Amino acid sequence: MPLIPDDKVDEIREATDIVALVGEHVQLRRAGTNFVGLCPFHNERTPSFNVNPAKQIFKCFGCDEKGDAFSFLMKIENKTFMEAARDLARRKSIDLPERERSPEELRAESEREKHVKVNELAADFFRATLAGPGGEAARAYLEKRGIDEATQQTFRLGFAPDAWDALALHLIERKVPPAYALATGLIGTRERGGGHYDKFRGRLMCPVFNMHGEIVAFSGRIIDPSAPKDVAKYINSPESPVYTKGRLLYGIHQARDGFAKKRRAILVEGNFDVISMYRAGFHETVCPLGTALTAEQVDLLKRRVEKVVLMLDADPAGRKATLRSAEILIKAGVPVYVVTLDSGDDPDSFVRRAGAEAVGRRVDAAVRAVKYFVDNLPRLVDLDPVEAVEHARGVVFLIQAITDRTAAEMAAHQVQAATGVPYAKVLQWVEAARAAEQKARPEATRPAPNGTSPNASGLRQPKYGPEHKLVALIADHPSLRRQIGLLGLDTLVRDPEVKTALAVAAESPDDSARDRRIGSLMLDAAPTLAPLILGGYFTTVESPEQAISEAAGVLRTPALRAQLADAQARLKQAERAGDPNVSALAREVLELKTKLNILLADLPPGGQIQ
Ligand code: UTP
Ligand code: MN
Repeated sequence: MPLIPDDKVDEIREATDIVALVGEHVQLRRAGTNFVGLCPFHNERTPSFNVNPAKQIFKCFGCDEKGDAFSFLMKIENKTFMEAARDLARRKSIDLPERERSPEELRAESEREKHVKVNELAADFFRATLAGPGGEAARAYLEKRGIDEATQQTFRLGFAPDAWDALALHLIERKVPPAYALATGLIGTRERGGGHYDKFRGRLMCPVFNMHGEIVAFSGRIIDPSAPKDVAKYINSPESPVYTKGRLLYGIHQARDGFAKKRRAILVEGNFDVISMYRAGFHETVCPLGTALTAEQVDLLKRRVEKVVLMLDADPAGRKATLRSAEILIKAGVPVYVVTLDSGDDPDSFVRRAGAEAVGRRVDAAVRAVKYFVDNLPRLVDLDPVEAVEHARGVVFLIQAITDRTAAEMAAHQVQAATGVPYAKVLQWVEAARAAEQKARPEATRPAPNGTSPNASGLRQPKYGPEHKLVALIADHPSLRRQIGLLGLDTLVRDPEVKTALAVAAESPDDSARDRRIGSLMLDAAPTLAPLILGGYFTTVESPEQAISEAAGVLRTPALRAQLADAQARLKQAERAGDPNVSALAREVLELKTKLNILLADLPPGGQIQ
């Protein structure tokens, strides 16, 4: 390939909006002059990935990845500079001089481009077949399922004719070298007599797009209702350099605008659920491609939306998948909601029977995963003890994700009511699961236990106390810094570094656009607190306001304890002297004890005031 002249590169750079480009992969929020989001190049829970629109560059303060629009595309889509440039140019309709390529150059063209190109040709062929004389049955099928022309177009649905080698011949006609076509898995080599045959026959073809809109695979559904039982309902392209099924979601390209607008993803089970939901206006719908939801797929969603609504089939398999999907999402820190469909329904049948408005109401009424599962625990009467324990254990991960202690206790009580397993036992499991998770975390992101402990490098880690919780909370929820003054936190903390960090946070102007920079300000002022500031320990806390006032309460306990000791001494004296104030003093002591017990409820048992 010829190099692109410098002035062309400049023209492309000039025309490209890096914020829009990055925004296709990362959910960005404005933060002052920059946009920030979760870095797509390393795993993080608090955003440190910055895009600067004026300079048209990006930089991650977490992993130090940085560059411009070209390098972003190269890195995120694994492209060469040429490919990235051509891609950016195409988006802006900038002509790149492309001369006829020599055979060597053709061969040098990357594996992935060949794949995508053959898939594109095939998709066009399938679409033409759908529209043509051989497409009647498929058109009737789509009409029966209520999928209109515009939606067919959006998903580029097509039809693979029920012939031995229609696509194979078409690709030969289009001068596609057989090796390329074979690599896509669309055709195979005949065992006898030579030549090639089509792998997809008599199937409705759903192209699978990557985030970027390239066709990387196909998923083909059988349409003949009289097809024998042993014929798979769907067949899918094999994995390839451009396609790993566990790393992609069907519908994710079509969902880009829906994600941005609704800030949520609706996760369904099947391709047709995605298509039907899209048709009904729920453009934010995606599904895994015939596998259980994977951590990589969760990663795709996590960067783009604020929550995931699970809307899986209302059958035993769907309920099981709901639990498994919720677990993996919750463990990744993504808030999960569950829609309950009527027994036997899937999103496709529901939307077609009840209509878009009814679906909208159900989605809006989706409940938090923990409520859904606790409400749906099988009743005690139906369970034997072994099953009861199994079910109770099955929801531990949900309770584990609840940071508010009282709420977690309530959930544990509900589990007890449903299964008969004592709530204290449930809470014990939750604690054990937390401890195990803590242990599994990499050393660097783990808060040091109370007391010093040597880390991997043999250095002593600082001791973290309740004061440090404030720093972590404010780093994760910058708007909380307004509470610093209100709660008098500056007077309650002793650690000079914590004092400094809180002071810079508190002094920063009251401007929500600046909130996102609080983390870096605190980091500059108190670098040894970096693990707390960057750890993201409180990103998913239910009520940050409550958490901070609780933390403040704990800090106030020494003063309260002194007050209590004083009141108790006065009470004793009054009792001895037969003072008429005894009952008032006794009430004061009781009130102080209650206050302290409430504040200490967050601490390990043993802290209770008798
Ligand atoms: P479903 O059987 O629920 O598919 O499988 P569906 O799309 O909802 O089909 P309809 O509504 O009956 O037409 C869910 C998904 O699992 C994958 C496909 O991605 C499918 O959409 N799958 C299913 C396969 O990959 N292979 C199969 O044989 C079946
Ligand atoms: Mn289905």
